[in-house]
Amino acid sequence: MKDIVVSNKVYYLGTNDRKKQLFENNWPLPNGVAYNSYLIADEKSVLIDTLEFGSKSDYLEEIDRILEGRKLDYLVINHMEPDHASMTGMMLRYYPELKIVGNIKTFKMLEAYFGLDKMQFIEVSDSEILDIGYHKLKFVLTPWVHWPETMMTYDITDHILFSCDAFGGFGTLDGGIFDDEINFEPYLLDEMRRYYSNIVGKYSHMVQKALAKLNGLSVRFVCPSHGPVWRKDPGKVIGLYDNWSKHISEDGVVIAYASMYGNTEKMADFAARLMAENGIRNIKIYDVSKTHISYIISDIWRYKSLVLGSCAYNTGMHPMMVHLCHELEVVNPKDKNYALFGSYSWSGGGLKSLLSFAEKMNWNLVSDPIDLIGSPNVAKMEGFQNIANKIL
Ligand code: FEO
Repeated sequence: MKDIVVSNKVYYLGTNDRKKQLFENNWPLPNGVAYNSYLIADEKSVLIDTLEFGSKSDYLEEIDRILEGRKLDYLVINHMEPDHASMTGMMLRYYPELKIVGNIKTFKMLEAYFGLDKMQFIEVSDSEILDIGYHKLKFVLTPWVHWPETMMTYDITDHILFSCDAFGGFGTLDGGIFDDEINFEPYLLDEMRRYYSNIVGKYSHMVQKALAKLNGLSVRFVCPSHGPVWRKDPGKVIGLYDNWSKHISEDGVVIAYASMYGNTEKMADFAARLMAENGIRNIKIYDVSKTHISYIISDIWRYKSLVLGSCAYNTGMHPMMVHLCHELEVVNPKDKNYALFGSYSWSGGGLKSLLSFAEKMNWNLVSDPIDLIGSPNVAKMEGFQNIANKIL
């Protein structure tokens, strides 16, 4: 590969993972994921985060080539999750004099993962600066974006923000690395929102704290550890994170249902038709047994309103709806208008379980829930008109 230069002496050293099926062995990766790492070949050489172990076979050769045989002086670990830090042990074996730079919380994890000796560790505090020559690196502690030890590294000289998970997303970088070399929308935007809502969204209040800390900094480049590098319009991705972490949503409705034999599905379609007649244009219907919850949660984060429906299943809600509701409780999207419906053949329970879940979410219930026995017909579904009238 030709060198990919971000700025003076700053090189992009990322790679694409098109093999992994599930990120964190949980989140589907039909479009893969990019791991980004950056090398600064200054008077002192600095690697900003590594990659997932084994994801790039010629990583060390590339570092050696750019450094022209010089040793690597520092490895900055912005985040210890193994998709970025699992090559740390290998780096220490290859560069025995390497110093690892992190904060007070990083070291405990390094010790636990790699048995790192304190002598090899340089602990930095918030706003501390490491002078490496032309570049001056300032460390900004941003806990819980996405783990407690998370920090960002800001280059004061060229105004580069190495942000690790923040401002990243799923999806590979297929040739285009920089925002001016790609069509960000719709695919990479969707994959970034899916990443945000499912991986980072739970910590939205901490994202707001991190953004407040970054507020005074001039940022010319955003260099995340997943997804594209932003050099044309870094404000765009910062704005997206600001909106998502403030739970600012777009007009639209997600209808997610669980249906065993199609009755609950008919209710979802009926509701959607009434909403369309009422002029709602963004309506997304999802069968929770078909679509992975990460996509449903991404759209729930995106849109203002949510309608959940479940058939009864062993006197509770359907197991696939349990899965969605559990994860919604974890990531906790806020400020939703919502409505609920269910269907049953004997004692019910689907709607009752949905109600118990929804009470915990502190959302705005717009209309009475609907529970229907047996097959749906227009008379049994009268209540959906009120839902359609009030949902947005
Ligand atoms: Fe990309 Fe939290 O790791």
